[in-house]
Amino acid sequence: MSAALLKTLDLAATNPGTYLGQGEWSQSTGAGVLQPLNPTTNEVIAEVQATTEADYETVIARAQEAFKAWRSVPAPRRGEAVRLCGEALRRHKDALGSLVALEMGKSKPEGDGEVQEMIDIADFAVGQSRMLYGYTMHSERPGHRMYEQYQPLGLVGIISAFNFPVAVWSWNAFLAAICGDVCIWKPSNKTPLTALATMKICNAALKEGGFPDIFFLINDAGTALSERLVDDTRVPLISFTGSTQVGRTVAGKVAQRLGRSLLELGGNNAIILDESADLKLAVPGIVFGAVGTAGQRCTTTRRLIVHESIYDNVLATLVKAYKQVEGKIGDPTDAANLMGPLNSRGAVEQFLASIEKAKASGGTVQTGGNAIDRPGNFVLPAIVTGLKNSDEVVQHETFAPILYVMKYATLDEAIDMQNGVPQGLSSSIFTQNLKAAERFLSAAGSDCGIANVNIGTSGAEIGGAFGGEKDTGGGRESGSDAWKVYMRRQTNTINYSDSLPLAQGIKFDL
Ligand code: UN1
Repeated sequence: MSAALLKTLDLAATNPGTYLGQGEWSQSTGAGVLQPLNPTTNEVIAEVQATTEADYETVIARAQEAFKAWRSVPAPRRGEAVRLCGEALRRHKDALGSLVALEMGKSKPEGDGEVQEMIDIADFAVGQSRMLYGYTMHSERPGHRMYEQYQPLGLVGIISAFNFPVAVWSWNAFLAAICGDVCIWKPSNKTPLTALATMKICNAALKEGGFPDIFFLINDAGTALSERLVDDTRVPLISFTGSTQVGRTVAGKVAQRLGRSLLELGGNNAIILDESADLKLAVPGIVFGAVGTAGQRCTTTRRLIVHESIYDNVLATLVKAYKQVEGKIGDPTDAANLMGPLNSRGAVEQFLASIEKAKASGGTVQTGGNAIDRPGNFVLPAIVTGLKNSDEVVQHETFAPILYVMKYATLDEAIDMQNGVPQGLSSSIFTQNLKAAERFLSAAGSDCGIANVNIGTSGAEIGGAFGGEKDTGGGRESGSDAWKVYMRRQTNTINYSDSLPLAQGIKFDL
């Protein structure tokens, strides 16, 4: 299955990992080889050559050259380039979705869903390309006009994570493209094949449409090249998705050179269930949020805060639902399975270590919590009770399917628990009480970048800005006005009078 799939997506057993532009893939070797593993078997799927330092310099030089031309292409025309990418992705949705499932390990419907997010953001970006609005304001001086406009920024470095190996690139790259920027993508070294396939699909579409190269690709076997990208003053914006720990370093390095960074870091997302919650909605919302993508979304539901009056019933219902999921854990490329493996052996170890820590802190594992005895990185998703929100293991984001279920008595207490973690990405409340919902969404409610009512924490649509506060890093990607981060803002004042009045009424008579 995998060889045929690779062929469909124009991939071979060994692949160049650097797109140099001008239709050229680097033939250089010597910078190491990436060997992405199929998490279902832990066998190498195919090899990818890492980028050499010399090739990195070529990429930057060609990207700079490309930017000089691209920045002057009218934005709606740039939108047409992205439209063609979106159309090409529509045609390749099934194959690319399968490759995401194969290499990352998420279920086939979720792999397809990820490609759908790429198509959606392409459509969004096409529309946005005609709406790069700036304000016009009234000057305090007679015969003067003032306005703000947004200009292309330059080169954008996109460092993406394994868990959304293609969608996160497209949120950045498609908006950056319509903004007039040129992108250099450094994908996760666990998922280079999906990145290669995506580049091939999009770059072929651009070429066919007569558009220049605006998307470049580098691959890093270690971290040296990524560090070089982060430190590179020729790259004014670094968009980084990954752990809070690495994000902190990236933010520091980019800030040091006064560059701009867009950070999408860890989450520790909670759902509150109040006494009026409609469990028909809440239970599937919780299970999809906690178990979907095997708990490897940054929006995964990691904490469940349940009103004490319904706690026992909710817990019993959830344990039953988890048992149903257990029967549908397996090869993610089989669309019948709801949950695939964790992406790596290391992730399984972290899962097991957190379970041990939870037990040592006094937690009770209600279901799951162990590795499955079969090839690959399969685990049984866990529900843990008996811990306090302040316990270290609960405060920490373990990128795996562990759900901590806790009780509360008053809504204030529940909101305090929800907010009482270092991260601030996604949150939700299930309630039928209008006052509770509005309180949760008020200034005194959730402190997260995403706050939902009667839907779970994961599965955000691309139309709203995506990102979060505190240790989540503060960045916003995809919808709403997230495009602004990819542009430089300029205020223009034009004097069409015959005199030169100074602002603030200052007199300066010569
Ligand atoms: C991520 O996990 O990095 O809301 C992104 C969601 C998806 C995006 C998640 N739309 O779960």
